[in-house]
Formats: sequence, structure tokens, C-alpha cells
Amino acid sequence: MDKLDHIVEEAVSAFAAVSDAAQLEQVKARYLGKTGALTERLKALGKLPAEERRTAGAEINKAKTAVESALEARREALREERLLAQLASEALDVTLPGRGTGQGGLHPITLTLERLESLFRSIGFVVADGPEIETDWHNFTSMNTPENHPARSMHDTFYIEGREDVLLRTHTSPVQNRAMVAHVARHAETGTMPDLRIIAPGRVYRVDSDATHSPMFHQVEGLWVGEDVSFADLKGVVADFLRKFFESDDLQVRFRPSFFPFTEPSAEIDVAFMSGALEGRWLEIAGCGMVHPNVLRMGGIDPERYTGFAFGMGLDRLAMLRYGINDLRLFFESDLRFLSQFR
Ligand code: DAH
Repeated sequence: MDKLDHIVEEAVSAFAAVSDAAQLEQVKARYLGKTGALTERLKALGKLPAEERRTAGAEINKAKTAVESALEARREALREERLLAQLASEALDVTLPGRGTGQGGLHPITLTLERLESLFRSIGFVVADGPEIETDWHNFTSMNTPENHPARSMHDTFYIEGREDVLLRTHTSPVQNRAMVAHVARHAETGTMPDLRIIAPGRVYRVDSDATHSPMFHQVEGLWVGEDVSFADLKGVVADFLRKFFESDDLQVRFRPSFFPFTEPSAEIDVAFMSGALEGRWLEIAGCGMVHPNVLRMGGIDPERYTGFAFGMGLDRLAMLRYGINDLRLFFESDLRFLSQFR
């Protein structure tokens, strides 16, 4: 029996000597595996005389149980060690200062838009909108640009396969018609029509792409229709807006005769800064004019009684001038190095 005690002792110290679970299982085989020391003993029982077999069996089983429980204890201890090591290596120092969270910000076009909206709201304009997938009729015909009119070719846009009646709008001008029709309907019962004053900012599309043109860009349409709205009102509203928008009285505004099918007379609006990097250069910023009688008529408004002015500004252009940006594409590339400067 000395020998059995010896085996147990040896197993216990062999278990204690290993440092990981895989090794432990290998060592276990030496005692409890198919050819392990204790297994061999059990196999040998059959050769003992019957009267010894019983006590010998009991002794071996006792030794086996002792080895098994030592094994289980060591397994448990190794598991515990491993867990502690893992906890130590993954420890978090909750007292370290935080890394900070990324702060978001509004896109420069959005900032420009919000500024523009609040300036126009302050003089009684409301914000209107219309669909970006617009009908051919609203985009062109309602703006006094009938089919085959040469002005249509300057507005090459994106069409939708299999649909001849819709396109991606080339300008925000069709909102003029939508706003007039809605305004007239709203006041149909009363017999009189209060002034209609809207701005309509939004995305527009053209087949065009370089440093100063993008196939998608932003415009703001402005429209004021009333009983005696004149070109002088147009000049006053636009010049005042531009001075407020650029926060500068040191700014010249020029109205240069031009042509648009939807206005008569028509003009191009240019600005020149009297100081800064762009000093003295005339920059085209918008088209404008007195709303053409046909446009009023198609909006359900009597051109004998009402007049109006309209303008269409490039919002991206305004943003570029205000922030000193020279490449339009920066607005649409989502580069955080650029965008984070506007937070
Ligand atoms: N819709 C014109 C364009 O995209 C811009 C424009 C010009 C709008 C004159 C107007 C206007 O309302 O009166 O080129």
C-alpha cells in the first residue's frame, strides 16, 4: 500500500508543478489514462487471489478518488489563476482622464442657408419648397420656357428613364408657380390677395462638373408679388440682404441687364467687395427681374393687378464668398479636415 500512497503523492506534486490546463490534462493521463499507473493497477486486480482482491480494489479506488479530487482542485486553481491574470491585463484605470467625444457641427452650406433664412424671415418672407424630382411643366413651361425654347438647352439635366414628364429640377424657380397656386387657393374666398413673399432654398441639378460647377448645387429662389411691387423694391431688398449677409457696408451691388424667360426686365446681380482678397472684382451672384406676366398668369394671378419681382441666387456661391472657399467640390467631399473648420 506504500506504493499507492506514493503514487498519490507523486500525482499531487506533478499536478502542482504544471502551470496551464493543457499540461495538466497530459499529466493526468500518467495516472488515470488508459495506461496510467492507477489504471494499470486496476487491470492487474484480476490476477490477485480472490481474498485479496476486495481490499486491494478498495485501496486502489481510494487512491484513484484522491488523485481525481487533487486533479479537480488543480483545475479549479488554474482557472482561477487565469481569470485573475486576465483581469489584471485588461484592467481599466477609471481614474484616467477621458479621451473626449467628437463634436459634430453644421455643414457650411447649412450654416449659410440658416443665415439666409433668418435674414429674409426678418423682413416678412416665409420659406417655401417644392420637389427635387419636378415635372417638366413646372420646371420649364410654368416658367415661360415652352418646349423647344432655346433656353432649355442651357439647362441640361437628368431625366428619368421611361418618364418624359419628370426630371431633376434645374433651378428653384418652379417653386414660384407652386407657391403662387397655393397662395391664390388659400385666399380664393376673400377676393383680395395679400402679398406673397417667399424664399425657396434647395438642391438643383445640371449636367456640369468642375471646380466651380457641380451636377448638384444649391439655389435660393426669392419671390415677392403684390399690388405695387417695383424694381426699386427688388434693388432695395437684395442690396440690403447682401450687406447684412456679408456683414459689410463696404460692398457694391450692381444690376446688369440680362435675359431670363420668366422675368421682364431681367438683370444679373453682381457684388464687389471694397476690401479683402477679392477687392474690386465684380462677382456674379444671382439672376433677377420683374416676374413675367405669363408666369403670374400661370400661377393664377392677374398681371393687370399685381406685379412682382423674383431672384435666384447660388447658395454655394454665397457660402464660398463668405468663407473664402475657392473650390466648390470641397462642399461635397465630406472631408472632415475641411468640415471641422466650420464648427
Ligand atoms: N432660375 C435661374 C437660373 O437658374 C435664376 C433666376 C434668374 C431666378 C432670374 C429668378 C430670376 O427668379 O428672376 O439660372
